[in-house]
Amino acid sequence: MIIAIDGPAASGKGTLGKRLAHHYGYRHLDTGVIYRAVAYAMMAQGADLNDEALAVAVALELDPEKFGNPILKTQKVGEGASVVSAFPRVREALVSFQRQFAADPPGAVLDGRDIGTVICPDADVKIFVVADPRVRARRRTLEARARGEDADEEAVLADILKRDERDKNRAIAPLRPAADAHTLDNSNLDIEAGVRAAIAIVEAVR
Ligand code: C5P
Repeated sequence: MIIAIDGPAASGKGTLGKRLAHHYGYRHLDTGVIYRAVAYAMMAQGADLNDEALAVAVALELDPEKFGNPILKTQKVGEGASVVSAFPRVREALVSFQRQFAADPPGAVLDGRDIGTVICPDADVKIFVVADPRVRARRRTLEARARGEDADEEAVLADILKRDERDKNRAIAPLRPAADAHTLDNSNLDIEAGVRAAIAIVEAVR
């Protein structure tokens, strides 16, 4: 079984993905980390994020062993990820890794922006997670502070809105729900209630 979870920045899809995977004994892939890893590798070299050819070369050489690096979670790297992820050839370079991950047994949960629409259009269950931008900004700010980053909620909100706009309006694989996705509004749910709602969606189609 493949569970596809998509949604905007800081909607809680990563936490839901991880918890659903744990619940069903499946593997979990946070696909945002892949684009973040491309951006970070470029930033670390002092490269221009708009250098498409370099971004493609970096994407083809990615080492999944490095996806756990905590620096990938920072706002700055997230912003860079939304720049490099708009390049069609960068996205193409990363498709087969994601599809292979999804296909391996015993099952997988992938979260991102285009899992239900492009990467796994035949996923068994598709969930599109939404949440009020203010709530998303507050959660992201608290997470950043917990990591010791200096975060201002207004600045985080502006970053989230800018990233959503870029992700929704890009020409390739824009952020949008698949026609057969189930929307889960996470605005007023704590983690446990969100997980229960997601499991209820999976159980209804299983
Ligand atoms: O989900 P996360 O905030 O880690 O994603 C970082 C950025 O990577 C997003 O803003 C988006 O531009 C890009 N992304 C994408 N497709 C995905 C996952 C993430 O374009 N499947």
